[in-house]
Amino acid sequence: MTTQTSARPQLIDLHPPSADMHRLVQDGLQRNPRQLPAWFLYDNEGSRLFDQICQQPEYSLTRTEIALLKSSAADMARAIGSGVIVEFGAGSARKVGPLLEAMRPSAYVALDISADHLVQSTAALQAQHPRVPMLGICCDHSQLDALPDHPLIRGTRRVGFFPGSSLGNFTRDEAIALLRRFRRLLDGGPLLLGLDQPKSKSRLEAAYNDAAGISAAFAHNLLQRLNSDLSADFNPDQFRYEAVWQETESRVRMALISERHQTVSVAAESWTFSAGEPLVTEYSVKYTTEMARELAKDAGWCWCRRWHDPADDLSLHWLEAAD
Ligand SMILES: C[S@@+](CC[C@H](N)C(=O)[O-])C[C@H]1O[C@@H](n2cnc3c(N)ncnc32)[C@H](O)[C@@H]1O
Repeated sequence: MTTQTSARPQLIDLHPPSADMHRLVQDGLQRNPRQLPAWFLYDNEGSRLFDQICQQPEYSLTRTEIALLKSSAADMARAIGSGVIVEFGAGSARKVGPLLEAMRPSAYVALDISADHLVQSTAALQAQHPRVPMLGICCDHSQLDALPDHPLIRGTRRVGFFPGSSLGNFTRDEAIALLRRFRRLLDGGPLLLGLDQPKSKSRLEAAYNDAAGISAAFAHNLLQRLNSDLSADFNPDQFRYEAVWQETESRVRMALISERHQTVSVAAESWTFSAGEPLVTEYSVKYTTEMARELAKDAGWCWCRRWHDPADDLSLHWLEAAD
């Protein structure tokens, strides 16, 4: 039986120190093409902008996934069972509500890289679900070796939840490594994984380059973040945002394109961009069911079943740890 809990969930802060961020920027700027980890997009301002993207008419993923969860949560709960729900990359935690009601978990644990946003999200969710004990963990989940030892997690079956097609930010090898890591973090428990599916080029490019310019502002905010957190001197006006569907790789590539030949300094180190050179801010890989099943198998998971919306735009896949 659960009891009434306090209004503000506890936060465990494991955010990587700025020295680690600097090393990751150095690694990323040496790549060809240059690319930074997608989590760099999510400081407090980035998280706020992402929430605005979710409300744009061209970006239907969030609305569709929430509707699917509302219509199927009871069925998911019957199939998957319960325990403590562990959500990876929880963001504003606006999707888990139907699962909290249908699964009646012993606790809810939200992991996210964006600390202030995570505090606000878990506090808002706690107010809506006062009987579910909640905990926030600020971390890079792609580097986490174990969940912290905490009474809400200890000795309890773990049910993973990874919505938003966030796995699409990773290359195939990285996605396999991440799913293997989640398998360890969930300690034998199942995973409910939300993945977006391929669609027409025009629809996908519009979704990631909305007419209101919020996606562009979200990408440009990454440069502002590097300027303030790592003493860089990017001029965002000298980089143009672009989102392109790359069909062969089944992914949208989002990038900032250098408008001219220019040299930028990051923590006193110089980096030269040629005119037209991209800085990749994130990828969004789109998975057919076949791709999802294959990926799960290669990462040590058994694919059990999927739930999808009426138009079959996206799926929530139920995975169980393979023996
Ligand atoms: C695409 S948003 C999805 C948010 C929410 N789950 C949804 O479905 O709307 C990705 C979320 O994951 C977080 N995130 C991205 N990379 C991360 C990482 N490596 N470790 C932890 N959190 C990460 C971001 O801060 C952001 O809240």
